[in-house]
Amino acid sequence: MAKKELDVLLKEERVFEPPEDLVERSNIKQWMDEQGIADYDELLEKAEDREWYWGEVAKELDWFKPWDKVLDDSDAPFFKWFVNGKINITYNAVDRHMKTWHKNKVAYIWEGEPGDIKKLTYRDLYIEVNKFANALKSLGIKKGDRVGIYLPMVLELPIAMLACAKIGAIHSVVFSGFSAKSLRDRMNDCEAKLVITCDGFYRRGKIVASKESADEALKDAPSVKNVVVVRRTGEDVDMHNDRDIYWDELVEGESTHADAEEMDSEDILYILYTSGTTGRPKGIVHVQGGYAVGIYNTLKNVFDLKKEDIWWCAADVGWVTGHSYIVYAPLIAGVTSFMYEGAPAYPHGDRWWEMVEKHGITVLYTAPTAIRAHMRLGDEWPKKHNLSSLRLLGSVGEPINPEAWIWYHKLIGNEKCQIMDTWWQTETGNFMISPLPITPLKPGSATRPLPGITADIFNEDGESLINKGGHLVITAPWPAMLRTLYKDDERYKEVYWSRFPGVYLAGDVARKDSEGYFWIQGRSDDVVNISGHRLGTMEVESALVSHPAVAEAAAVGIPHEIKGEAIKVYVVLKKDQTPSAELKDELRIWVGKEIGPIARPDELGFVEDLPKTRSGKIMRRVIKAKAKGEPVGDVSTLSNPEAVDGLDNAE
Ligand code: WT7
Repeated sequence: MAKKELDVLLKEERVFEPPEDLVERSNIKQWMDEQGIADYDELLEKAEDREWYWGEVAKELDWFKPWDKVLDDSDAPFFKWFVNGKINITYNAVDRHMKTWHKNKVAYIWEGEPGDIKKLTYRDLYIEVNKFANALKSLGIKKGDRVGIYLPMVLELPIAMLACAKIGAIHSVVFSGFSAKSLRDRMNDCEAKLVITCDGFYRRGKIVASKESADEALKDAPSVKNVVVVRRTGEDVDMHNDRDIYWDELVEGESTHADAEEMDSEDILYILYTSGTTGRPKGIVHVQGGYAVGIYNTLKNVFDLKKEDIWWCAADVGWVTGHSYIVYAPLIAGVTSFMYEGAPAYPHGDRWWEMVEKHGITVLYTAPTAIRAHMRLGDEWPKKHNLSSLRLLGSVGEPINPEAWIWYHKLIGNEKCQIMDTWWQTETGNFMISPLPITPLKPGSATRPLPGITADIFNEDGESLINKGGHLVITAPWPAMLRTLYKDDERYKEVYWSRFPGVYLAGDVARKDSEGYFWIQGRSDDVVNISGHRLGTMEVESALVSHPAVAEAAAVGIPHEIKGEAIKVYVVLKKDQTPSAELKDELRIWVGKEIGPIARPDELGFVEDLPKTRSGKIMRRVIKAKAKGEPVGDVSTLSNPEAVDGLDNAE
């Protein structure tokens, strides 16, 4: 890597102006021309009239009945968008394409890890969704019921989500890499009536036994009455006679027609659980109307998707990135998406680049952790392939470091693709701070808030800061925002709206430069960002203390070359236990089993004691500093200062 080039980026001096032809042909430029808007600044300024902006772009969707009012903020922070509007997100994603030539366009190109390929047109998708929607009804699923979906990256996953949304059932997708316990907790929290899973799936050439985990989870999930099992691997699995049914047998003979339920804009579309600062995940609630408007508008503007594009969002549908930008938004936009089942560099380092070339991917959206992993495999892998179909790239999940930015830009984008660094969260539903094709880029910055979105950086007193780190806040509501935390309005108010009244607290530390560009620095709470996925340190700690040998534990994030952050834990054993290498391994595996492999700590050390305040609270700040080898600062309020040095001797 040219060191000089890196230095320039590190000093934030290099600006990448968007190429003329990208700007001229872009969706956003076309929209600006229609509106008589001259440039980027004027666009952002004009969209500060948020009700005008969102009301205008919402007209691009099909509504059964238009809204009376764009925004109702009379019961803040319980905002309502497109009040009294009637809509169905699946109708917009699938049904409406039946009226145009789009019905014969490919909606999904899917590739399994073993190399099997499937293609579904919009019409195929329409038929599959309708059959499954009818099948759901035959199992007694009604509007408002919760359906758990525990599926890997197979086409039945979007089909199941769309079918739920079509009949007004609420889906809650649980990432297929999560453990039985994680699935059980989530199904119990939302009181799911049905769970959809599969016999297994392929990951690095091995079969992951989803059905086994689901069975384990459902031993103690009384609300779940039925389990639908997708046949992916064809392996034999245990089927409970009175409870389980195979997907293919269930849909057989079902009608290929199903009416879309007329939903209120504010009816719940889905619940997606994400980590917070306590041991209990938060059920983020998204709704049908505003969410549809927000995700569609942001995808169309940021990634500039056109009829001829082949879009690859390389996330898993189990995270919000996949919900918004693999399932709902690309379908509403009528785009062809690519979906891949398996592990990135399997069986060779060029699997991804081979697929980009083979399928002619034009826009690729991935995470810095994946870019760094590919970088480490070596330049020879992407160099084996002709990647000239790519015209735009994207990044999400964590700040992209300059080394990774340069590599992505050169080796993958051949220096001709702008990189869209999109900042957003499970809660925000859609991209919030992100470039448009007309935005000059500063590598490492997600640039400026999108039209209709207003963000700022606050100090402790709620004053706006320039060029200084502070709390990242969103200063006004937006259509795709979460509506609440499932069954927990109080926690919703407390977590997001209480620190600065009337303002949404993102939980990130960031800086805004003098040109209004945002530079995200990381989380401000006890949440670790592992490979772009959020994990609460408290969750790891509660998993550890549930092991019979553990008395106490503290988990902190430490920097990691590829994952961005990794978990380090300090464990105090019960009196009768002796530390050993075996126990160490056992505990690391235990955490992986309790939560999912993502949560497995990279480092684990046994200590006699953890530093605590006089009131008995673990001093995380001190532990974090120690773990990173930084100065610990003031320890005068500790009840046991000797524990601080003890951390150095953790074994
Ligand atoms: C957290 C949200 C929704 C995307 C997937 C993660 C971090 C996300 C960026 C970015 C810097 C980013 C933030 C945020 N983050 N995108 N472009 N630059 N940081 O969703 O699990 O809800 O996590 O991811 O810390 O708060 P999530």
